Amino acid sequence: MAIFNQTHLTGQIQAHNMTSGLGLPLPGVLCEYRAFPADGLVAVPDFMSDEEACNLPIASLTAWMAINGMRPLGQPAQGGETVLIQGTGGVAIAGLQIAHAAGLKTIVTSSSDEKLEKARKMGADFTINYRTTAGWESEVMRVTGDKGADIIFENGGAQTLRKSFDCIAFGGLINCIGYLSGKEDVSEDKLHTNVLALRRNVTLKGILNGPKDRFEEMTQFYERHQIRPVVDRTFKFDEAKEALKYLYSGGHFGKVVVKVAE
Ligand SMILES: NC(=O)c1ccc[n+]([C@@H]2O[C@H](COP(=O)([O-])OP(=O)(O)OC[C@H]3O[C@@H](n4cnc5c(N)ncnc54)[C@H](OP(=O)(O)O)[C@@H]3O)[C@@H](O)[C@H]2O)c1
Repeated sequence: MAIFNQTHLTGQIQAHNMTSGLGLPLPGVLCEYRAFPADGLVAVPDFMSDEEACNLPIASLTAWMAINGMRPLGQPAQGGETVLIQGTGGVAIAGLQIAHAAGLKTIVTSSSDEKLEKARKMGADFTINYRTTAGWESEVMRVTGDKGADIIFENGGAQTLRKSFDCIAFGGLINCIGYLSGKEDVSEDKLHTNVLALRRNVTLKGILNGPKDRFEEMTQFYERHQIRPVVDRTFKFDEAKEALKYLYSGGHFGKVVVKVAE
């Protein structure tokens, strides 16, 4: 498996590592043949198919870093915390699998009751429909006994960050991963981020994938727990455009895969 920023092998990402990003600025991996420096590769776990393994470098590693990136290498989470996961896309479902296997309590939000049902079948402890429950942050507080979530996957951005600050536990960690609902604050009450962060002693952490040693740490965890990434649908190589359209439609649960060769 190719690591995203090819020179990011350990520790905090630096500006120079970002010049080695696959897809940005280097060519991406939607191709049939590609040569990589050995340093930029991680071995596929024996029990996984290629269709499953191709989900690990971006979605799974990002989720792994959201849960474990602030902990020492080799000492991943072992239960006792609650994780709030926004949505049911690739990063979110990888996060659910990792958190559940680590014994953490999980809360998943989605716009679809059908997807929430699937999340519960995978072990999600609480699920909330963010379309029908606009005040989902109050629901998070309720199901956590007014404590809030210890770790939040902030995938929404504009329409979710303020709510995340309202349902984070004291001392909790908000991982800024994506901005699926936009980049600009749309809330009426525009409290500054510094006030929101100090109010509950929150750590706000930007996530930019992760380094190779963390990727290997995660792969061992997947092996130990025999976690198989959730592939919603697999497209043929010459159907890549349809695959992207399907991804943008948001109908998927987990990952969308393009198979390079039969
Ligand atoms: N920082 C990094 O290193 C990194 C790495 C990978 C991805 N990302 C970013 O992280 C985000 C998620 O990536 P992904 O690959 O998981 O994307 P994805 O598979 O396309 O996720 C789409 C899902 O996100 C959910 N969603 C959309 N708007 C939402 C909202 N307002 N509130 C809550 N959930 C919402 C929807 O779930 P439902 O259908 O269930 O409603 C949607 O199906 C993207 O913005 C992506 O660019 C960042």
